[in-house]
Amino acid sequence: AEQTMGKWGEYVTVEFDEGIAWVTLNRPKQRNAINPGIVWEMNAIMDALEEDERCKVMVVTGAGESFSAGMDLKEYFRATDKVPPIQRERLFRANAAWQWRRMMYYPKPTISMVNGWCFGGAFQFLVGCDLAIASEEAIFGLSEINWGIIPAGIVTKSVLETMSFRDAMYYIMTGETFNGRQAAEMKLVNKAVAPEDLKEETRKLAMTLTGKNPFVLRQAKTACRFTRDMSWEQAGEYLMAKSDQTELRDPENGRNVGMSQFLDEKSFRPGLGAYRR
Ligand code: ACO
Repeated sequence: AEQTMGKWGEYVTVEFDEGIAWVTLNRPKQRNAINPGIVWEMNAIMDALEEDERCKVMVVTGAGESFSAGMDLKEYFRATDKVPPIQRERLFRANAAWQWRRMMYYPKPTISMVNGWCFGGAFQFLVGCDLAIASEEAIFGLSEINWGIIPAGIVTKSVLETMSFRDAMYYIMTGETFNGRQAAEMKLVNKAVAPEDLKEETRKLAMTLTGKNPFVLRQAKTACRFTRDMSWEQAGEYLMAKSDQTELRDPENGRNVGMSQFLDEKSFRPGLGAYRR
C-alpha cells in the first residue's frame, strides 16, 4: 500500500497492535505542529488504513509532550503566503480532507488520544475523530485570537458542535487555556484520565470497538454524522433506509446471528455485550 498511496514515516508513524492502528504525529521538537509533510502523510495513511485489515480502529495521538500545537505558523502559513493561490488552496484542501472532511466519515472508528498540548487547528481532528480521551494534564487552547486570527479552517464550527455556546464563545474570545479534566466536563472529550493511564484506557476503549461488527459500526457512526443536520421527518426516513441497507449488506448477517444467539441458543445477552463473531 505504501508504494501506491504515497509514503509516510518521516512526520507521522503508524504502529499496529491487536487491531489498533496507533497513528502518531511525530514532530515532537515542533510540538507536532501541522506542516505540509504531516498533511500529505496523513492523507496517505488514511488511504492505506481504510483497506488494511490490521486497522480496525484508528487512534490519533502525538509524540512527546504534545498532541499538536495546531497549524505550523512557519511552514503552513508564512511559507504559503507568497505561493500561487492554486498551490495554497491545494494544501489547505488536503488538510481539510484528513482533519475533518474524510475523518468525519471515515469507514473505521477513530479516537483522539490527547496526550498534551492541543491548540487551534488541532481541534479540527480532535472533533473530527468519533471519540476522544485526554490526559487530565493536557492543555487545550483556542489560541487564534492571541496571535490575531479567527479560528478558521473549520475550527469555529467544530467547537460549536461539541462545546456549549457559552464555552465556545468564552474560549474563542479569551484564548484562555483549559486542561483535560475541564475538557471532559465540557464534553469536548469523552473522558480525562491520569497521564500514566492514558494509553491503557485508550486501548480498552479501542478493544471494545474491535469486538463489534465492523460494518454495523460504520453504518452507526455514519448515521450519527448525517442525522445531526436533518429534520425529524428526514431522519426517520433516512434511518429506516440506512437500517435496511445495513441488514441487506452486512457480510456477517449480524442481526440474525445476534438474535439467534439470544433467543435460540440463549448464549449471550445483548444488553450486556456484543454477540460472538
Ligand atoms: N507553529 C510553528 N512552530 C511551532 C508551533 C506552531 N504552531 N508550535 C511550536 N512551534 C515550535 C516553536 O517555534 C519552537 O521552535 P524552535 O525550537 O525552532 O524555536 C518549538 O516548536 C518549541 O516551541 P516552544 O514555544 O519553545 O515550546 P514550549 O514547550 O515552551 O511551548 C507551546 C509549547 C505552548 C505549544 C508553544 O510552542 C506555543 O504556544 N505554540 C503555538 C500554539 C498555537 O497557538 N498554535 C496555533 C494555533 S492557531 C491554528 O492552528 C490555525
